[in-house]
Amino acid sequence: MLQEIPTIQITDVKHYVNQTVRIGVWLRQKRGSGKIAFLQLRDGTAFFQGVVVKSDVSEETFEIAKSLKQETSMYVTGEIHEDTRSDFGYEMAISGIEIVGESHDYPITPKEHGVDFLMDHRHLYLRHLKPFATLKIRNELIRATYEFFNKEGFTKLDSPILTGSAPEGTTELFETDYFGESAYLSQTGQLYAEAGAMAFGKVFTFGPTFRAEKSKTRRHLTEFWMIEPEMAFTTQEESLEVQERYISYLIESVLKNNEQELDILGRDKEVLRSYTQLPYPRLSYDDAIQLLQDNGFDVEWGVDFGSPEETFLAEHFSKPVFIVNFPKEIKAFYMKRHPTRDDVVISADLLAPEGYGEIIGGSERDTDYEYLKTRIEEQGLDLAEYQWYLDLRQYGTVPHSGFGLGLERMITFVTGEEHIREAIPFPRMISRIRP
Ligand code: 4AD
Repeated sequence: MLQEIPTIQITDVKHYVNQTVRIGVWLRQKRGSGKIAFLQLRDGTAFFQGVVVKSDVSEETFEIAKSLKQETSMYVTGEIHEDTRSDFGYEMAISGIEIVGESHDYPITPKEHGVDFLMDHRHLYLRHLKPFATLKIRNELIRATYEFFNKEGFTKLDSPILTGSAPEGTTELFETDYFGESAYLSQTGQLYAEAGAMAFGKVFTFGPTFRAEKSKTRRHLTEFWMIEPEMAFTTQEESLEVQERYISYLIESVLKNNEQELDILGRDKEVLRSYTQLPYPRLSYDDAIQLLQDNGFDVEWGVDFGSPEETFLAEHFSKPVFIVNFPKEIKAFYMKRHPTRDDVVISADLLAPEGYGEIIGGSERDTDYEYLKTRIEEQGLDLAEYQWYLDLRQYGTVPHSGFGLGLERMITFVTGEEHIREAIPFPRMISRIRP
């Protein structure tokens, strides 16, 4: 009896050397002569080459191979061989082609296209090497996040996307009508995570967050995904230790599981590995201002850092660096007062090296009902919206700390991508809501 030909995926071809298999693929590119056709194929798991030799196949199969268009989908059948000349290491000697879906005039050709063109065709551009590699790494960072926090005893708690509160400032809100009332797309899940920490001890939220950022920079999206851990009975210093362990764990996971993708993107793996060395330096905001001034920056105590300052500070240490204890006036209402100074709060931003900027913002949370009430009023927020949050300080308040990691910022840092728009399948920015 004839053995049935197995249908497999490209990543599995190493287990089928010298065997005949069938794979569902798309054609990326094609080259060849009158006697041979080289087909660059992909199936979503990997990229490899199939070779059609005229003298080895039927006339019809060779004609089909020659007429294939970019992005045609098909099943290819053939024997798997080792191929020491390619990075992938294997290729297929194709003996049969069954077309599944034809393709004509595919718009993204091997020639160079501008950024706007590629973003307008993002629904198709996802199929190409760089987005593939970047978004595979995104997937790994999400997987490793769940793994890390599960190992550390956290409970995943989902926070709502439609909210009545705007704890990170009221200027960057997307407002919507909620049955006659105003509601906002969530800027942060933190306040809900704090409620969760009082119920589950250690929680993390992970979801889309929204900021109507008018700034057109390579680090800002209007819709980005944030991971927000929150821990009861935890001081800021303990939280910083979780943060650096988490970042190091994420980088190690990508180094272990995404070698192919890092190579596609040309990311230096040894440089990345150096960022897994702990601890990360801690530099006070005061010292950071001093250091910047000593190096010719025109900054005064009290300002928030811009991109050049952040780049300088992290480059100075050649690794991620925590800037701790920011001025109270430039930070959110919930941050804990410093025990001996009235002008700073117990907060920290983690700055990534190589110009990737702030990847984490976090703080210890103040636990005092009256103080928080005053801060909410001072910041011009609607006290009624925060009554439930203040309840957390009325019924067994405890020291607690937490932080938020911007997933897309972390992706650009790990992948070495220049612009944050590459780090999310369908980016939302001030001038882009389609596709
Ligand atoms: O520093 P942020 O505003 O902190 C918070 O929202 C806190 N509630 C977090 C917490 O303590 N639970 O934002 C946290 C991180 C930033 O460090 C950055 O990585 C990312 O979110 N982020 C953005 N990423 C992309 N586009 C934007 N517009 C972003 N704004 C913040």
